[in-house]
Amino acid sequence: MTSRSGWMIYGAYGYSGALVAEEAVRRGHRPLLAGRSPEKLAPIASRLGLEAVTLDLSDAPAMKRALERVSLVFHAAGPFIDTSDAMIRACLEAGTSYLDITGEVPVFHNTFTYDAAAKKKRIVLMSGVGFDVVPTDCMARYLSEKLPGAVDLEIAIAGLGTPSAGTAKSMFDGMLAGGQARRGGELVSFPTGRDVRRVRFADRERSTMAIPWGDLETAYRTTGIPNITTYMAFPKKLTSAAHNTWRLQEALAPVTRALLGAAPVKRAIVRMLETKIAGPDAKAREKGGSQVWAKVTDASGRSVEAWLETVDGYSFTALAGVRSVEKVFAHGPAGALTPARAFGADFALEIEGTRRYDALPPVA
Ligand SMILES: NC(=O)c1ccc[n+]([C@@H]2O[C@H](COP(=O)([O-])OP(=O)(O)OC[C@H]3O[C@@H](n4cnc5c(N)ncnc54)[C@H](OP(=O)(O)O)[C@@H]3O)[C@@H](O)[C@H]2O)c1
Repeated sequence: MTSRSGWMIYGAYGYSGALVAEEAVRRGHRPLLAGRSPEKLAPIASRLGLEAVTLDLSDAPAMKRALERVSLVFHAAGPFIDTSDAMIRACLEAGTSYLDITGEVPVFHNTFTYDAAAKKKRIVLMSGVGFDVVPTDCMARYLSEKLPGAVDLEIAIAGLGTPSAGTAKSMFDGMLAGGQARRGGELVSFPTGRDVRRVRFADRERSTMAIPWGDLETAYRTTGIPNITTYMAFPKKLTSAAHNTWRLQEALAPVTRALLGAAPVKRAIVRMLETKIAGPDAKAREKGGSQVWAKVTDASGRSVEAWLETVDGYSFTALAGVRSVEKVFAHGPAGALTPARAFGADFALEIEGTRRYDALPPVA
């Protein structure tokens, strides 16, 4: 039996993996860095003075051996639709806990299917320990505890700024899937642009459009609320254009999906995103910030809302990611859990720069 110590960051040289590794070192951790490319791993391992191991997700025996060295893997290599299931299976084989930073609805769903297996192994599987979904999951739990029996949950997010290449790739996959919401406990699909609304965030009002956000899976598990809609703020011109053309988009959707989803076209788009998008630099992250609004409503029409402000989404992801690792080590939860189910509604408030409001703050 191998003796275990510490944790591993897989995908450690990606944009977000590197931010998590830097935050881990800042908080005194010495995670094992991992990824599939030795050339890309070496510079970050040497810069942070950490040990590194090259690992290919498709090499199950090597994955098991490496995962048996640690108690937990922080999986940062996305799009997770391509990587998460292999890592979860390897973690179950090795008896190693699993955290990831996905925002992809089908990935959350898949993680929850391993709940019983994770409990049996006494490990935790937790998807979404980044900006998607810690702030919104905590808001969902906070409001559902204020209004027990709520049947509707609406969540809106603003201020994500420039995406990283990995986020852009995951968003591209999501865009092909179209709009989604949860109705009567079931996921339903609809054309992007059909559902638009104005939302008053803590700082100002913005135009938003319903898009699939991780809470369609996680908030459902955290709160049991059967009807959930998640919105994202976009420039008004974009939401109006999408709304004015949603019927046309719906008619063209099969063609669009066939064209953009075709393997050679998708490969070319992915390559273009990888070469053109660098992600926000430190200055942009420092200047950035995100807003969340959420509201629950019960069958009698009573409603409660709240607002949250956070630092930039990528900084939040690194901060919340490392805090999640620390909490798993401190409390040892087991099963497939959401962040707010495992750590409570106030977890988001532990992240530097996060503020929650029960009423709109006075305009500065
Ligand atoms: N939850 C959140 O709020 C949040 C925040 C930030 C990012 N994310 C998500 O995290 C993911 C990564 O984002 P990023 O910004 O770090 O992107 P990135 O800079 O493109 O990094 C992606 C990393 O994943 C690795 N990777 C991809 N496919 C792999 C595979 N099949 N096997 C092994 N490694 C693989 C890449 O390695 P190679 O270079 O070798 O391909 C790279 O290290 C995205 O899905 C993004 O949406 C979520």
